[in-house]
Amino acid sequence: MSFKEKIDPSKLPQHIAIIMDGNGRWAKKQGLMRVRGHEKGTKAVRDVVEGCAEIGVQNLTLYAFSTENWNRPKVEVDTLMKLLVSSLKKEIKTLQENDIRLNAIGCLDNLPAKANRELQEVINKTAANSRMTLTLALSYGSREELGHMVKEISAKVAAGEISTKDIDESVINKHLYTRNLPDVDLVIRTSGEQRISNFLLWQIAYAELYFSEILWPDYRREDLFEAIYNYQNRERRFGKTSEQLS
Ligand code: IPE
Ligand code: IPE
Ligand code: MG
Repeated sequence: MSFKEKIDPSKLPQHIAIIMDGNGRWAKKQGLMRVRGHEKGTKAVRDVVEGCAEIGVQNLTLYAFSTENWNRPKVEVDTLMKLLVSSLKKEIKTLQENDIRLNAIGCLDNLPAKANRELQEVINKTAANSRMTLTLALSYGSREELGHMVKEISAKVAAGEISTKDIDESVINKHLYTRNLPDVDLVIRTSGEQRISNFLLWQIAYAELYFSEILWPDYRREDLFEAIYNYQNRERRFGKTSEQLS
């Protein structure tokens, strides 16, 4: 029985977030340049996106480029930005065919103008799609996002639009880049690394974490289905006791 068949469609995670890691190591293992790994990684992106849509996942967020990734060698950063543009041009078809809406989170103003333009274009063209929301985290860092949120709320307090005593979790949620997304239920990180790397710190407060040894370019939908099946067999207690849940 495949993992896909074992998945309970009534217990799907509402929001899956993936730290796509291991492109460089994948390339190195084949004796190739790191950027070849990023190119190969786009195939895994397509397969996983289609896989999520296929089984009915509503929200998928992919960590594609972190605020810290700007510190990589310029050739690698340039290649990643070019790859972003070419992937957007190519994958708009996949998005439309699968009724997927594109969304982006992060400090998008820091992207090269061309990449930002292409991104906004695909976001606009897919805005009416409703089967799934695919969010790309680009130039994204959770600490930057939280800083941005604090600045926005402070400005509203200073302007008298909201009062300090009314700042609660829902106000905070509304000032994050993820304002329109539900909390993350499942975080997957590939390549064997077991860390969060500044990804969605607030939003994963009660997410289940799943670490796979597979390097991102080799990751396929069946691997994702395995992670979802594993997730479905965990008990999420949210601070309660097991007895309270049953
Ligand atoms: C993930 O793969 C892609 C990005 C961070 C953009 P890496 O490039 O981090 O690959 P490794 O971790 O060096 O193998
Ligand atoms: C995290 O991967 C960022 C993305 C997947 C885009 P990194 O490879 O940059 O993470 P660290 O630096 O090894 O933690
Ligand atoms: Mg890495």
